[in-house]
Amino acid sequence: MKSLFKNLLAPRIEYETDVERIDFPLAHEWLRNTYWSKGISRNRVEQGFRASTAVVSAYVGGQMKGIARCISDTTRFGYITDVYVAEESRGRGVAQGMLRNLMQRPALRSTEYWYLITRDAHEVYRKLEFQTFDKPERLMRLDKRR
Ligand SMILES: CC(C)(COP(=O)(O)OP(=O)(O)OC[C@H]1O[C@@H](n2cnc3c(N)ncnc32)[C@H](O)[C@@H]1OP(=O)(O)O)[C@@H](O)C(=O)NCCC(=O)NCCS
Repeated sequence: MKSLFKNLLAPRIEYETDVERIDFPLAHEWLRNTYWSKGISRNRVEQGFRASTAVVSAYVGGQMKGIARCISDTTRFGYITDVYVAEESRGRGVAQGMLRNLMQRPALRSTEYWYLITRDAHEVYRKLEFQTFDKPERLMRLDKRR
C-alpha cells in the first residue's frame, strides 16, 4: 500500500530519444566521475553519444536524471553503454526504463544479441533478462589506452 502511494505520488519520468535533448555539460559531469570513463573530456562524451545508433535520456520535472546509449548493427548485435542515473533518482526504475526504451525502438527491436559490461550493477540488467556470459573465454578485447 505504502509503495502504491509512493508510485502514485512520484513525479512522472519522461524518456527522450533525440540526442539534441541531452544536457552534455551534465552528462560530462556524471561520466567523467565514473569508474569506466574517469576523466573523459566533454568532447569525447558528446562524440560518443552523437555517433551511437540510439540514445536515451530520462527527465523528471524537466530535469535530466539519466542517460544511456547503444551501438548496434540493428540486426545481429547491440552494445549498451554509459548507463547513468542521477543519485537522487536511483531505485525508481529509471535505468530499466531507459534500457527498455532503447531496446524496443523499431529499428532495434529485432536485434539478436545484446551486450554490456558492468562491475557491480548485474541485478539491474538481470531484471531485463541479461545473463552473465556463459563462455567468457571467447570474449576478447584490445585496450589501446595502455
Ligand atoms: C546502476 C544504475 C544505473 C541503476 O539505476 P537505477 O535507475 O537506480 O536502476 P533501477 O531503479 O532501474 O533498478 C533496477 C533494480 O536493480 C536494483 N539495483 C539498482 N542499482 C543496483 C546496483 N548498483 N547493484 C545492484 N542492484 C541494483 C534496484 O534495487 C532495482 O530493483 P527493484 O526493481 O527490485 O527495486 C545507477 O545506480 C547508477 O547510475 N550508478 C552509477 C553508474 C553505474 O554504475 N552505471 C551502470 C554501469 S554498467
